[in-house]
Amino acid sequence: MRKVLIKNNLDELGDAAAGLFVAIAIESIAMRGKFSVALAGGATPRALYSLLGSDKYKKKVNWSKVTFFFGDERNVPADADDSNYRMANETLLAPLGINAKKVHRWKTELEPTEAAADYETRLRANGPLDLVLLGLGSDAHTASLFPQTKALNEKEKLAVANWVEKLDDHRLTLTFPAINAAQDVMFLVSGKEKADAVAGVLEGESRPDDLPAQRVKPTSGNLFWLFDVAAASGLKGP
Ligand code: 6PG
Repeated sequence: MRKVLIKNNLDELGDAAAGLFVAIAIESIAMRGKFSVALAGGATPRALYSLLGSDKYKKKVNWSKVTFFFGDERNVPADADDSNYRMANETLLAPLGINAKKVHRWKTELEPTEAAADYETRLRANGPLDLVLLGLGSDAHTASLFPQTKALNEKEKLAVANWVEKLDDHRLTLTFPAINAAQDVMFLVSGKEKADAVAGVLEGESRPDDLPAQRVKPTSGNLFWLFDVAAASGLKGP
């Protein structure tokens, strides 16, 4: 099932995402006794994470049943300004007092391929993720699955070190097998600068090497696209 939600602005988008996150978490814990989620990086999810850690939402979830992963990570130390782990820790994990044993950080202190192998082991021990949160770049990348990169074609591994020429660096990322095995996948996209990528991914011709987010097709799970009006402004369809 694919569902598109369009909200007026980032605040309303964050609130809608928080409500959906909580609903999915409650159902997962009720049905399976646990909830494993891969957090997205970048700037957009900050509003969602801050809301989840706020008085409005934090008491709605039994956080002791939640295990946190990360959809991707930059090849930087965990305390670096651009670390996805650091952003999520500051906005969500620390405010909620999440036990570090329930947080699977990419070990960026290792060589990228070693960090990916370590993450693969932990992902396989967990089993399919219950929810994967994703952002979308203006080039239609998601997680660290960038256009024309090797990781796009990974069919077996769940976690890889992906060389990204335009960044001149490795990025650590879940693969499409890991993402598409999830029970639910939620994209959170805000801003006019994403409008062309959104329209291309959802309404354009199939060009998955150039529009990697087109490869997000949960095998049996639900796919939710949450946009603000600006990010959805290029869409023509209903
Ligand atoms: C990252 C993210 C990446 C992000 C998009 C959108 O590590 O940056 O995982 O995939 O979601 O680039 O980023 P913004 O939300 O900052 O626009």
